[in-house]
Amino acid sequence: MTILFKPDETYRGDYTYRNSDAAILRFPFPFPEDSYMYSVNIEPHVRGGFTPVYNNPIDVDEHYIAECRDRAITLERDPGRYAALPHMMTAQWDSIELLMECLSSDYPELFSLHKDGDRWTWINRPLGIEQSFTFGKEDTLPCEPFEYITRQIQGDFAILDQRNGSLYLDAGMVTAQADWSLQFDVGMDFMEWHGPVPLAHQAGVFERALKYLLMLRQGQPMRRLNWTMTVNPRLDTSPETYPEWGPDRTTLTLDNIGRKLHLRVELQTLWRLPRSNAILFPLRGYLASLDELVRVPKWGRRLHRVLSTLPRELAEYKGLVRFLPTALEYLSTYDDGAPTTSGC
Ligand code: HEM
Repeated sequence: MTILFKPDETYRGDYTYRNSDAAILRFPFPFPEDSYMYSVNIEPHVRGGFTPVYNNPIDVDEHYIAECRDRAITLERDPGRYAALPHMMTAQWDSIELLMECLSSDYPELFSLHKDGDRWTWINRPLGIEQSFTFGKEDTLPCEPFEYITRQIQGDFAILDQRNGSLYLDAGMVTAQADWSLQFDVGMDFMEWHGPVPLAHQAGVFERALKYLLMLRQGQPMRRLNWTMTVNPRLDTSPETYPEWGPDRTTLTLDNIGRKLHLRVELQTLWRLPRSNAILFPLRGYLASLDELVRVPKWGRRLHRVLSTLPRELAEYKGLVRFLPTALEYLSTYDDGAPTTSGC
């Protein structure tokens, strides 16, 4: 399959990011029901499913080049968006191996990996990169291995170290997050970094999810979807840059909300790593404007129902309160009251 990249689109400034018709149809719409509540929504990350985004374990789409460029801009402004504690070097090499192997086997026209013992050559055609290096020797790459490979893949990444019956956020490449800070969370454990999330702790969601993850097995990755909403197609909605994007929430009107408000879905996958026993956690984001989403009638209808019944605590935590009434007014036009079936 040939991917038609859109190398010039932007996620800041003039915000020229748009989805093609094909990209709208492959959007991982995250609501199988007319209402939403946190749950342990973890399932095996196998190929195929309700969205083509699941066809390959690491998804590459038309936004690839533009998204890698946006990451480079954010890192240039704030190198602290990448962090790895010193004991994570084995996990870094585990990660580069896993990611290069996935990409080169699923997208051979875009990526190649040649191995001659420890001497590896990586070719990334869309970004025009050819790099030979020695696996396990940091000084043969231009930067640390985890930074090197995550600069070349869409989405954010974390690596969790497993010890003391918990998971610790000990490495990350985080330039496209929904308002959380790697610099603040680095070194925290699973319960600590999830501290601010409302309702889920009391419902036992995190306790059960952690138990499950501690048993994760190599070769059997898992996945879950998470979502929020973002004004403008902006990837860098970090607390560090809040003054740049926070005020945008006050700019929405009935006339512009269809174009400006985006559903932001994260496909989160979890992979046990072979040597370090750590867990690689890619968080791949997908953005679609309300105008784009309502072109699929059942999505417009369902989004209206989900948002109108969303618990207040979740709306507050996700930062939706200020514009929710306008979003509901816009979406109500697309909800004809027809019954919906379960599934996306
Ligand atoms: C939110 C990280 C796995 C459920 C968050 C936040 C972070 C995070 C940083 C934002 C917290 C804040 O407000 O500061 C991670 C990492 C994971 C992981 C690194 C890798 C193990 C999971 C799993 C679940 C989960 C397996 C399954 C239930 C949630 C939920 C939220 C959340 C429900 C609130 C999201 C929202 O309403 O937008 N996570 N998480 N997380 N996480 Fe996780």
